Amino acid sequence: MASVVFVLSSCVSFILVSNAFSTKDDADVLHDIRSAYDEMKKEVSTLKEELKLMKQKHCECATKVDSYNNKIPRFLVPNGQAPVAFHTHLSANFNVSSNHAVAYDMVKINVGDGYNKFSGIFKAPTAGLYFITNTVMSMPNHGIHVEIVKNGVAIGKNWADHNGYESGTMSVITDLDVNDSVWVRDSDGGTERLEHDYNSFSGFLIYTEY
Ligand SMILES: *[C@@H]1O[C@H](CO)[C@@H](O)[C@H](O)[C@H]1NC(C)=O
Ligand SMILES: *[C@@H]1O[C@H](CO)[C@@H](O)[C@H](O)[C@H]1NC(C)=O
Repeated sequence: MASVVFVLSSCVSFILVSNAFSTKDDADVLHDIRSAYDEMKKEVSTLKEELKLMKQKHCECATKVDSYNNKIPRFLVPNGQAPVAFHTHLSANFNVSSNHAVAYDMVKINVGDGYNKFSGIFKAPTAGLYFITNTVMSMPNHGIHVEIVKNGVAIGKNWADHNGYESGTMSVITDLDVNDSVWVRDSDGGTERLEHDYNSFSGFLIYTEY
């Protein structure tokens, strides 16, 4: 009987001891997992905070880039936008009467196809700010007076005196809408003569509206 009790009690104590050991191991593992979890939780919250800051910064940058892009004038038309430029001159003496357009017949460049050599009218294919220039040359005893007109209204005057082979140049910078018309017309009454190919009419789009 005593031996049975002994065996039983040693069994029980063995179970208790081994239980105690295994409980301690579990607690350790649990503890480790817990601290790893806490550590990760901290890291995640730090990362979240950093992500939030980065998102804010990204947002600020994107806004800045947007407003910067919106403010850049599109000088001389970037890729993807159609440029506009024309350069013309007379091929021979040209008599023009009062209020009539000078039809420059030699078309050297007509990017955008805005200029019509039969009417002498440049019609803006694109809205924007344009540089337009005109040069005249007079013949002896006949001065020449012209003006650049936009939709029929003078926006610049040009003159070469009657001493002969005098030259005048006048340039304007003007806003044009699509289909606004610009041309050179005689402004002096009577008929005047422009001397040969020393007379030119040119222009180009500086930048499109934004
Ligand atoms: C053009 O004008 C000039 C100067 O006024 C004149 O001598 C000439 O006869 C005119 N030519 C024509 C074809 O009208
Ligand atoms: C410009 O003129 C052309 C030809 O007359 C026409 O087809 C077009 O609709 C006009 N565009 C604008 C914006 O007025």
